[in-house]
Amino acid sequence: MTNASRSVERPMTDAEGSPQDGGPRSMRLRVEDVSKVYSGADGVDSVAAKGVSFDVRDGEFVSLVGPSGCGKTTILKACAGLMPITSGRIDYEGTGRPAKAGTYGMVFQTPTLLPWWTVLENVVLPARVLGLDMARSRRRAAELLELVGLTGVDDRYPGELSGGMQQRASLARALLHEPDMVFMDEPFGALDAITRDTMNDLLQTVQRELRQTVLFVTHSIQEAIWLSDRVLVMSRGPGRVIDDVPIDFARPRGIALSADERFRELELMLKQELYTSLDAPGLDTTSLDATGPDQELERS
Ligand SMILES: Nc1ncnc2c1ncn2[C@@H]1O[C@H](COP(=O)(O)OP(=O)(O)O)[C@@H](O)[C@H]1O
Ligand SMILES: [Mg+2]
Repeated sequence: MTNASRSVERPMTDAEGSPQDGGPRSMRLRVEDVSKVYSGADGVDSVAAKGVSFDVRDGEFVSLVGPSGCGKTTILKACAGLMPITSGRIDYEGTGRPAKAGTYGMVFQTPTLLPWWTVLENVVLPARVLGLDMARSRRRAAELLELVGLTGVDDRYPGELSGGMQQRASLARALLHEPDMVFMDEPFGALDAITRDTMNDLLQTVQRELRQTVLFVTHSIQEAIWLSDRVLVMSRGPGRVIDDVPIDFARPRGIALSADERFRELELMLKQELYTSLDAPGLDTTSLDATGPDQELERS
């Protein structure tokens, strides 16, 4: 069964679903009052997240946006079962537990391709690990490489590709086993602005084709608005979700959307929420110009 046939019709505006789009969508992931405390070797505890709650429904693209150090990576890893939590509950597909390896795909900020394997062999790696049919997986890998705009580089090695191309291959690999959900942790954060825009556009194409459920971590407000059905705003660390904002722009969304008045209003509103939580007097949001550069939220 393909993801396209597995997922529910994609609603455009209402995160709860509506009769027009086939009713409410089922829950894919629920995070309830999750806190995480890291115990330091020196005996000093560090609270990374405090009372984080949100949910992700079938077929949704949800972004988690917040300042550096607010706990985004911690929460993402906890959802993927890669990081134990201190308290709270994570329920993936009604299992009462975080997601299990093999059911999801993951894309990190820096490509994690194996340098001694070709692009194609890297992309079929999950099939090897999960014991899937290799001939079928190679065919699927070729399709995905085409979808991410990487035809003709199957036999090249990662070191021969640009950073953007490596991240395309990483995305193809994350999708190979037709995961139920994809977790992405600032996947384009290390790329230059133009490549990043290209990758965001590509991600929308992939999303349109495959109707994946995605939890996407970013500290770029513009990127979050451009890509998402909903944006979850996190406060500075120890983070919690302080707002859950539906983004109802029609798709496909072009780069020109960032000049749209409503886009800029949303961007300003989200900046106000984030900067208020940063409690930094220099960031007076009453005079903030939403058309300005998408500031990196590095203050923590
Ligand atoms: N393994 C770790 N041990 C101790 N502290 C950690 C560890 N990982 C993250 N932290 C701390 O937890 C907080 C949240 O980190 P992280 O989840 O990486 O935030 P973000 O992804 O939003 O930048 C930060 O203060 C960070 O220093
Ligand atoms: Mg992080």
